Amino acid sequence: MAAYKTLDDVNVAGKRVLVRVDLNVPMDGARVTDDTRLRAVAPTINELAQKGAKTILLAHFGRPKGKRDESQSLKAILPALEQTLKQDVHFADDCVGEAAEAAVAKLTPGDVLLLENTRFHAGEEKNDPAFAEALARLGDIYVDDAFSAAHRAHASTEGVARLLPAYAGRSMQAELDALDKALSSPERPVVAIVGGAKVSTKLDLLGNLVKRVDALVIGGGMANTFLAAQGAEIGKSLCERDLLDTAREIIAKAGEAGCEIVLPVDGRVAKEFRAHAENRVVATDHVGADEMILDIGPKSIERVAQVLDGAKTLVWNGPFGAFEMQPFDEGTVAVAKKAAALTREGRLLTVAGGGDTVAALNAAGVADDFSYISTAGGAFLEWLEGKELPGVAALTATK
Ligand code: 3PG
Ligand code: MG
Repeated sequence: MAAYKTLDDVNVAGKRVLVRVDLNVPMDGARVTDDTRLRAVAPTINELAQKGAKTILLAHFGRPKGKRDESQSLKAILPALEQTLKQDVHFADDCVGEAAEAAVAKLTPGDVLLLENTRFHAGEEKNDPAFAEALARLGDIYVDDAFSAAHRAHASTEGVARLLPAYAGRSMQAELDALDKALSSPERPVVAIVGGAKVSTKLDLLGNLVKRVDALVIGGGMANTFLAAQGAEIGKSLCERDLLDTAREIIAKAGEAGCEIVLPVDGRVAKEFRAHAENRVVATDHVGADEMILDIGPKSIERVAQVLDGAKTLVWNGPFGAFEMQPFDEGTVAVAKKAAALTREGRLLTVAGGGDTVAALNAAGVADDFSYISTAGGAFLEWLEGKELPGVAALTATK
């Protein structure tokens, strides 16, 4: 990856620093239900404040589609943000124009200002040059600390980065560093675990990974499509029958690239899709016509554990089974615990990302043991697909 600059490369004292953060946190009414993203950006904001910058936060919230919508105002997260930062945060009712400019003009070194939702303006998602200019007017330099929004070529993530001297914030830096160690220059053998319901949503990702990893462990509903492609009878299991040829192509590509594909050899099956449904363990080629695979079985767990024992690096996206329903979370939990133990012993570098994955690792109680957990959903997936993220590319462009 081309080099990008960080907060180590700039003197921010007294400067107006525009910082793109991702404050798109889940809410239940007025309450933030998961503050991971707030905690992720705190080091950058606190460091800037402590160094005497005038910190101006740019962020989106929800998808208001270019119109002001009070139900998607960033004002709602202000209390949680102040609590996480342990610092007062000023608020401006708009992210451009008079309201924003007046609020910025009042800042003194060490102050932090949050600007209203950038997506209240149509120019944000269109990456409109005039809107990017209006944002750029507010700052002397730009810092991007929102990896999880870097797959969007929007004015606040991409356009403005090309107009001001641009730097990666600490969270962006940590994310890029972890992702680089996981896939761009990993210690080998490197293993990927890819789970989730559907092959169709992860075709590009699988195609990229088979070229880059030594072993690809496939789990979740998508494993069924691969099993069916190999002729297994999988009963009523979730399966994308129209993708059997595609699955065979991926297996062939993996063979050419020297990537071992690891599929479940046994599964926990049930006749009903519900928590605590009556269930049994069978070989994946002996599933009854009225049964469906809802998790991997003990032999598969053992097999994945062996693969991890021989690995140095693990990239994980997607759960193994229907992990939100007990007991079909057992496969995901067992493998997560194994990966966490190897990480604690210093034998494995573990990087995970994607919404369901993080929820599953949290449920398994191992999230803190992983080397790195990405705050990103879509951006993490696009990175796994090998795509260039516009927000990251703009940081490495020379100005
Ligand atoms: C996210 O929540 O994944 C990011 O904030 C990006 O949001 P978006 O998918 O609405 O662009
Ligand atoms: Mg989203």
